[in-house]
Amino acid sequence: MRNVAASSWLCILLMGHVTAAAQPNVLFLVVDDMRPKLNSYGETNMVTPNIDNLAINSVLFQRAYCQQAVCSPSRTSFLTGRRPDTTRIFDLHTYFRRLAGNFTTLPQHFKNNGFLTVNVGKIFHPGQAAGGDDDAKYSWSYPAIHGSTAKFRRDKECKGADGLDDNVVCPVNLEQVAEKTLPDIQSTETAIEFLQNRSIDQQPFFLGLGYLKPHAPFKFPEEFLKLYPLSRINPVTNPDYPSWLPHVAYSPWQELRSYHDIKIMNLSWPFERVPDTYQLKLRQAYSGAISYIDHQIGRVLQALDYYGFTNNTIVTFLGDHGYELGEHNHWTKKSNFDLATRIPMIVHVPGITSKPSTPRGQTFPFYNALTSTKTINNVRWSCSSTMCIDEHAKRGSYRTTDALVEAVDLYATVSELAGVDVPPTCPPNSLNVSFCTEGTSLVPLIRRVMASRNTEKVSWKSAAFSQFPRPANRIQLNSDLPSLADIRIMGYTMKTATHRYTEWVAYDPVTFTHNMSHVYARELYDHRSDPDENVNLADDISLTGVLTQLAQQLRDGWRKALPKTVV
Ligand SMILES: *[C@@H]1O[C@H](CO)[C@@H](O)[C@H](O)[C@H]1NC(C)=O
Ligand SMILES: *[C@@H]1O[C@H](CO)[C@@H](O)[C@H](O)[C@H]1NC(C)=O
Ligand SMILES: *[C@@H]1O[C@H](CO)[C@@H](O)[C@H](O)[C@H]1NC(C)=O
Ligand SMILES: *[C@@H]1O[C@H](CO)[C@@H](O)[C@H](O)[C@H]1NC(C)=O
Ligand SMILES: *[C@@H]1O[C@H](CO)[C@@H](O)[C@H](O)[C@H]1NC(C)=O
Ligand SMILES: *[C@@H]1O[C@H](CO)[C@@H](O)[C@H](O)[C@H]1NC(C)=O
Repeated sequence: MRNVAASSWLCILLMGHVTAAAQPNVLFLVVDDMRPKLNSYGETNMVTPNIDNLAINSVLFQRAYCQQAVCSPSRTSFLTGRRPDTTRIFDLHTYFRRLAGNFTTLPQHFKNNGFLTVNVGKIFHPGQAAGGDDDAKYSWSYPAIHGSTAKFRRDKECKGADGLDDNVVCPVNLEQVAEKTLPDIQSTETAIEFLQNRSIDQQPFFLGLGYLKPHAPFKFPEEFLKLYPLSRINPVTNPDYPSWLPHVAYSPWQELRSYHDIKIMNLSWPFERVPDTYQLKLRQAYSGAISYIDHQIGRVLQALDYYGFTNNTIVTFLGDHGYELGEHNHWTKKSNFDLATRIPMIVHVPGITSKPSTPRGQTFPFYNALTSTKTINNVRWSCSSTMCIDEHAKRGSYRTTDALVEAVDLYATVSELAGVDVPPTCPPNSLNVSFCTEGTSLVPLIRRVMASRNTEKVSWKSAAFSQFPRPANRIQLNSDLPSLADIRIMGYTMKTATHRYTEWVAYDPVTFTHNMSHVYARELYDHRSDPDENVNLADDISLTGVLTQLAQQLRDGWRKALPKTVV
């Protein structure tokens, strides 16, 4: 059943450009392990002209958070519209339909509403975590499409000091890798072919397009590394394991240690740092991998424009979680720090976040950072044939909001924008409820951001929530990511307008219950004075009042943090 109110609202905003019957398409972009290290998020040394151009035509969420900082739990959460405590997915090999409930996923909901739903690349976490078929039986119109080269992910194709190996720093010459291509390039080509195949008057589509990079290994065409001379890479300002950090909060980054170029350093476990010179190389390669994905996204958006879909396609862009690049001696994700939980999130709605009348080919011109850059104020910018991306930035064209939003909000948001039923809020025990959400539609927020000339502070959620499990109150090999049966402690964390507050409490994986009276450790960071989370204030007795209030707010949870007024 269509949500009549929502679709007529969309039609009013697109007045004169769509008929009442037209249903928008959805391009649902997901990137793996990409923290908001993007020019449009204020990182001026990054070369990300295509994502920036998407942002210029969208609302950009400055404070967006995932619900758990690792792949499958985060993806399962935003694809079911529920939080990890409800999906019960905290690890990488458990399938929510088997463990929790027969939930209607976001693509499944669209499929039920007459959309062609297509999976290209990584949307669900593949393998057992998605029933062995990317949940295709339920979520997708036909089997998921993955590039044939995805299986060469860890092959010894990466140049290191001692030859080719499975290094984490892995710029490659495409002529020298298997099939002379990479899986994300193949996904781009499949998505473009899909758009070419569709005609604009066909059944509406929901295209889930998931890129594998910048996830390690940082394997990408070597020319992208040239965008980032090593001399321009800034070292981390807080590279040490902080002495005040409770051991339960530490993730010993086994994932990074598993690569050949890191293994041969013989780093003592768990605290010895990656040498500073290599830290810079890792940061350089991560930036290169981001520009590589920016290039892929630019090609797909250009095709969307070229084949005439831009004016009737909602585009969402989402990182599954954040990333740590040596800060607090942390690498990758699997922690509750802001760097691990904060994500890039951008929502483009034709007619609402951009003019519906933009001529074909002009909303998403392709910026090729590899062939056309120029240097302005000592920074390299990318140009299309007609303009350079920095000119937009100077005009202050980004529509941003500081409102606290969560990845779990996307389900209701995309549903409302596309005019399909918006799921109701889940009851406290929703395992047997197939269609409901623990997120909130962002549509009223998007409308308010677009209506205000300046980026005024809009009152929205009072907190964003995340969590991360641990197997023990000490650092051990599986501290990064315990299997469900090994979980003994859950770290619940909350980001408010001013603070991050975290409690690590006892957890029982048999009954799926936590014990908020059994607290192992607490963390408190004041983001007004300490955005990098370098000072844990949890033991500061002068802050007892603040701590008591935040502890209560954490226990009250997401239901009490919902926006008070939804216009
Ligand atoms: C979108 O663009 C196509 C091709 O340029 C055009 O035929 C169609 O009328 C446009 N639709 C809207 C909603 O503007
Ligand atoms: C799960 O729900 C789908 C409909 O959404 C239904 O077809 C299927 O039979 C259900 N499976 C189970 C095991 O209940
Ligand atoms: C495009 O259409 C061709 C011809 O029908 C088909 O073989 C191909 O699989 C389609 N590609 C995609 C990505 O849908
Ligand atoms: C690491 O240990 C191996 C084996 O003990 C040794 O051959 C190698 O030289 C060591 N590497 C470094 C960087 O210390
Ligand atoms: C779900 O289970 C609860 C009891 O746990 C029951 O009260 C409720 O009616 C059930 N709802 C559905 C839709 O089956
Ligand atoms: C929760 O933890 C407290 C403190 O350790 C303990 O006294 C209590 O029995 C625990 N509750 C349950 C239900 O295990």
